Amino acid sequence: MFAKRMISALIALLWTAVLAFGSPVQAEENECIACHEKVSPGLVSDWRASKHSGEEVSCSDCHGDKHKTAKDANLARLPDEHVCAECHEDQFDQFVKGKHNLGWYTLNAMPITHMEPDVLMEGGKGCGGCHNMGVKSEAQKKDQRDKGYHYQNNSCDECHTRHVFSKKEAQDPRACQQCHMGYDHPQWEMWSSSKHGTRFFVKQAGNLPEGAAAPTCQLCHLPGGTHENRTAWGFLGVRLPLPEDKQWAADRVTILKALGVLNPETGKPTARLEVIKAGDMVRLTEKAWNTEREKMIKTCTACHAEQYARQQLEMGDQLMKNADRLMADGIETVATLYKDGIIKKPDHYSFAYPDFLYFKQTGGSYIDQVLFRMYMKYRMRTYQGVFHSNPDYAYWYGWAAMTKSLGEIQELARTMRATHKVK
Ligand code: HEC
Ligand code: HEC
Ligand code: HEC
Ligand code: HEC
Ligand code: HEC
Ligand code: HEC
Ligand code: HEC
Ligand code: HEC
Repeated sequence: MFAKRMISALIALLWTAVLAFGSPVQAEENECIACHEKVSPGLVSDWRASKHSGEEVSCSDCHGDKHKTAKDANLARLPDEHVCAECHEDQFDQFVKGKHNLGWYTLNAMPITHMEPDVLMEGGKGCGGCHNMGVKSEAQKKDQRDKGYHYQNNSCDECHTRHVFSKKEAQDPRACQQCHMGYDHPQWEMWSSSKHGTRFFVKQAGNLPEGAAAPTCQLCHLPGGTHENRTAWGFLGVRLPLPEDKQWAADRVTILKALGVLNPETGKPTARLEVIKAGDMVRLTEKAWNTEREKMIKTCTACHAEQYARQQLEMGDQLMKNADRLMADGIETVATLYKDGIIKKPDHYSFAYPDFLYFKQTGGSYIDQVLFRMYMKYRMRTYQGVFHSNPDYAYWYGWAAMTKSLGEIQELARTMRATHKVK
């Protein structure tokens, strides 16, 4: 007991000495802060409000100490995820196993990426602004720097933003909004206007008791505070093995051809399937798919009956089958135009067949663009709307818009055939 007290007293004495005279490390730290308090005061007050500042995790822990004056800012290190991992190994390990770690990988696997302006990709003003998620290789970082862009080295500040790095912020669904919104993944819009989301906001306004249940994105997708995320159908709503239902299996094959993972002529897998496998982007076995599905059911049963939850999710699968029927019809209509030489194969395409991974860069064929929108905008909404319990998205923004697109495709195809001149 006495020895323990002696040690504490000694530590206290030493600590007072450090505070009074300042250690060299502390002095350097104070310089960063003193200068940046003038250069970028908002940033410093952010850091002061963080848990880090209370724990003496300071500027140079993350940025190194090579940059010392206003003239050598280029010497400051911009920390990647490995720097956070030095102190947060668990979160890092979970993160790298999840799909967020694939953002940059899948972006670069898309042929379209390499045809678009760098500002939108490496610069982070378009696709790259959301897909910078994931640990980048040294080669990828060099490529980015060579093109003149050197920020966006860190994914951890996407949900708990710098320099507060707050856990509470990341637990708020609004932390997901910036990326999970809009064209092909309006999860924010779907959730926030569903019963689940409205309950969250009503509760926040104080109009529901504190104990009322209101599931957030995090509760369903990062359960128990894990940083590993993955869903059963994730990756554009396709998976393997093919379903038992013959028509649905045929329709999915048609979709896989339009995604360029099956050769449209032979039906054999292409090199793209290898890229998808290597990145673990899609569930390739029944078991892998079921694992994710069962995890989700377990989450629902915190508040719902198991039967209820199962039925809700099975309805999502069912509607996907209906949606795939419409989709395959649309793809085949356009594919026949290619086959009959009414649409010419763009040079950058591998096959005379629609190729969704070129997005809208289709060599100028309008009907191809309508088909792409039917897939990427409306089919996604159809099934994502059911899974997020949002009837309006599932029907009006999803299913109804798919049927309208199919009508337009058929009408355009008729006109193109009628006006096509045989040379
Ligand atoms: C004498 C003033 C001064 C001191 C001391 C100082 N900085 Fe800076 N720092 C600057 C200025 C000026 C910039 C450039 C700001 C700009 O681009 O507007 C900068 C930029 C930075 C950047 C951004 C680099 C980039 O690539 O954009 C980081 C990170 C940084 N400082 C961290 C630190 C750290 C850590 C320390 C202490 C080890 C420190 N600074 C000390 C003035 C200072
Ligand atoms: C816990 C780690 C951490 C600490 C501590 C930290 N930073 Fe940062 N800082 C980052 C990350 C991450 C980025 C973003 C890097 C990127 O975009 O590649 C960043 C970016 C910056 C930038 C450039 C981007 C911008 O928004 O202007 C400046 C300047 C900067 N930090 C200054 C500081 C200063 C000054 C301190 C101390 C008061 C500090 N940082 C403390 C992690 C940290
Ligand atoms: C030198 C060690 C160190 C580094 C490097 C570091 N942290 Fe921390 N971090 C801590 C400590 C210590 C705490 C406080 C732990 C606690 O309260 O349980 C903390 C807390 C946090 C929290 C929780 C804050 C809260 O509101 O409860 C988050 C989020 C976080 N850090 C993110 C990051 C990110 C992102 C990076 C990299 C950019 C990073 N940290 C780098 C040591 C570090
Ligand atoms: C997709 C959003 C998201 C990203 C990206 C993210 N986090 Fe988190 N983080 C969260 C959420 C949500 C929580 C709160 C978990 C909980 O409820 O316990 C959290 C909590 C934390 C905490 C506090 C843990 C605790 O229990 O006190 C740390 C530390 C942390 N994250 C570090 C990291 C690091 C390091 C990275 C990058 C490798 C990272 N996070 C990337 C969402 C994210
Ligand atoms: C009540 C639980 C629940 C909530 C809350 C929830 N989701 Fe989901 N989410 C699901 C289910 C169920 C699926 C479909 C899982 C499957 O594939 O079987 C899904 C799928 C997804 C997918 C993959 C979609 C795809 O195209 O395959 C993403 C991304 C997603 N959710 C993000 C979010 C975001 C962001 C929020 C909050 C704005 C959110 N979710 C809120 C249950 C939820
Ligand atoms: C900076 C942008 C960004 C933020 C913020 C973000 N995400 Fe994501 N999220 C992505 C990207 C990009 C992907 C797809 C990664 C890939 O290419 O496979 C993704 C994928 C997902 C998936 C996997 C869907 C599948 O394919 O199985 C889920 C679930 C998810 N995010 C949930 C969340 C939740 C919950 C939050 C908030 C706590 C969040 N995300 C915050 C960009 C973001
Ligand atoms: C607003 C943010 C945002 C922008 C901009 C964005 N994405 Fe995404 N992307 C996401 C999110 C979030 C997901 C996961 C959605 C889901 O699973 O429903 C995703 C998923 C994907 C996927 C499927 C990856 C997988 O593993 O499941 C690909 C491929 C993709 N995006 C490519 C692109 C390309 C190419 C662009 C630019 C033309 C782009 N994205 C622009 C946020 C974005
Ligand atoms: C944290 C609790 C909680 C979780 C987890 C949860 N829900 Fe709910 N859910 C609710 C509450 C509360 C309601 C509102 C009940 C009502 O309408 O009377 C609701 C309503 C619903 C509705 C009905 C919407 C309507 O308009 O009638 C569906 C469908 C639903 N949930 C499906 C799911 C599915 C599927 C999951 C899992 C992926 C899930 N829920 C997870 C709490 C939860």
